[in-house]
Amino acid sequence: MQELTIAKEKLTKAGYLDLEIDPTLDLYEEIEKLKKEKNAILLAHYYQESEIQDIADYIGDSLGLSQKAASTEADMIVFAGVHFMAETAKILSPSKKVLLPDLNAGCSLADSCPPHLFKKFKEKHPDHVVISYINCTAGLKTLTDIVCTSTNAEHVVNSVPKDKEIIFAPDKNLGAYLIKKTGRDMILWNGACMVHEIFAMEKIVKLMERHPGSQFIAHPECEAKLLDIADYIGSTSGLLRYTQESDATTFIVGTEAGIIHQMEKYSPNKTFIPAPPNNTCACNECPHMRLNTLEKLYLCMKYELPEIILDEAIIARAKLPIDRMMEISKKAGL
Ligand code: 13P
Ligand code: SF4
Repeated sequence: MQELTIAKEKLTKAGYLDLEIDPTLDLYEEIEKLKKEKNAILLAHYYQESEIQDIADYIGDSLGLSQKAASTEADMIVFAGVHFMAETAKILSPSKKVLLPDLNAGCSLADSCPPHLFKKFKEKHPDHVVISYINCTAGLKTLTDIVCTSTNAEHVVNSVPKDKEIIFAPDKNLGAYLIKKTGRDMILWNGACMVHEIFAMEKIVKLMERHPGSQFIAHPECEAKLLDIADYIGSTSGLLRYTQESDATTFIVGTEAGIIHQMEKYSPNKTFIPAPPNNTCACNECPHMRLNTLEKLYLCMKYELPEIILDEAIIARAKLPIDRMMEISKKAGL
């Protein structure tokens, strides 16, 4: 009990539990034990560290993770991902305890669209339908008509009657890609993902030349100039599927490098090269996603902290556009 009080105090300051762990513990075993004891499900995004992916009950893209969070019978959802993903899980399963190992795991895209500024922007276009990429805060979702993910975005845009105008937020790159794909003219919020904007075009072209027959595959959060030279564009699950189905044996992967772990598992005889960033940093790894570690995960499950807490009114309003997205995805067989 005293241990829990100390943990809570530490959490307030740091956003995660920074407690000593007995170095002799096998964390994989301990996490498995905690899952059973607490009837918890561990959901992980493809951008998580390989060791976290390996212990997850479900690994997926944003749509798959939301569907799993909505349908699970577990009492506790432990989210190895970023804040907006855990928030979405809470909105979809408000009676469950939702945990995120590190509350600092944010998202540059979500941060680029503060709800109070978006509200003013929306007021200037009162007749527009608002579509928001799921990579946004719960606050933004309360100002949204339909949420989308990269897997269902085209279906969501096409679901809006042709005579209605659309605002798309917060990702200008995904928005521009959707305008091209659907032919719908949309007003775009000026946001972007720090990871997908850092890939170096010239280095990718050189890699393609050095590996004849290789294919460049990219996430639609990348800039248009990169998407223009891509052999395939898709969400993380789309990219993963493509590498399995394609006859190509070498891929230059234009998204966060964490997905390569699953690509290598599914296609052990193929070669995957992370698309290089425009400097020497490891910027093709998302600094927010990578805040989660096995140690934080273990402590979070043991003490059931940090927990995602959301106001009931926010949950009720933010759920509407997510439910619409779920309905459209179901109809489309996604
Ligand atoms: P998807 O996995 O849905 O393609 O999303 C990618 C992403 O950037 C998540 O933060
Ligand atoms: Fe956000 Fe980009 Fe990180 Fe995804 S990869 S969580 S969009 S910053």
